[in-house]
Amino acid sequence: MLQVHNNKELMAQIREWKQLGQSIAFVPTMGNLHQGHLSLLQLAQNQADKLVSSIFVNPMQFGPKEDLDSYPRTLKQDCKALMEHRCDLAFLPGTQDLYPQGLDQITQVEVPDITERLEGKFRPGHLTGVSTIVLKLFNLVQPDLALFGKKDYQQWRMIDKMVHDLNLPIDIIAGETVREADGLAMSSRNQYLDRDQRRTAANIYQQLQWVVQQIHAGNEHFEELTTLASKALTDFGFKVDYFTICNRRSLHLPNPGDPLVVLVAAHLGNTRLIDNMEV
Ligand code: PAF
Repeated sequence: MLQVHNNKELMAQIREWKQLGQSIAFVPTMGNLHQGHLSLLQLAQNQADKLVSSIFVNPMQFGPKEDLDSYPRTLKQDCKALMEHRCDLAFLPGTQDLYPQGLDQITQVEVPDITERLEGKFRPGHLTGVSTIVLKLFNLVQPDLALFGKKDYQQWRMIDKMVHDLNLPIDIIAGETVREADGLAMSSRNQYLDRDQRRTAANIYQQLQWVVQQIHAGNEHFEELTTLASKALTDFGFKVDYFTICNRRSLHLPNPGDPLVVLVAAHLGNTRLIDNMEV
């Protein structure tokens, strides 16, 4: 596996592959790889001639009071995992490579509407930080397809819209959320939880499942359902940012007959967890 640390070297390699007519699958990450990331690499295999992954903890998508400095960085073991998953190239840029002029005056990519609620409301600037870095990475890697986890549901839908709106010739493929045995969605932030919190965290999955079961059983009182689920989480000690049922694509409140997704974000101590379930 090639390990590339700067844009110039990356672009030279990409050019060489393109000249040979080889297609590229891309899995962008912030490192600290877990089974969720690795399942995306597995999904990417055999879908293109070359598999590229990036590891970059993107400062632009962290708020001033968020965990940029403490975000887990495990480069050595990540590279080993990438290699074991038949990654051809690991792009490992520094902040200087991607933001040589800093962040203040950089052009931002803002995807309207879909980013105005949920994560957009509770983490101002976060989704714009994601769309901006993802477009920058797409321009550097020039993938034919790129893979994102459904765990970050709004992120996936936003990127899909950006690619569509800007006519980027990239297929966006979504991988299912990978869960621990008790249902907790895998996330690098789970390791911030202490033992009691870790046990409590599985209630997010329980409540999502309960809401989805209720909808399947014909319950259409969406507001009542999400209020009850949210209250249950509060009783377990969570501070809930949102628990809501949305149209799967627009993430607006649904009209009758819309395909649905249930989305939740909640704090447990200092850790913010998000999860969702399609109905
Ligand atoms: O989902 C992530 O890990 C990040 O948001 C991404 C897509 C790599 C952009 O920094």
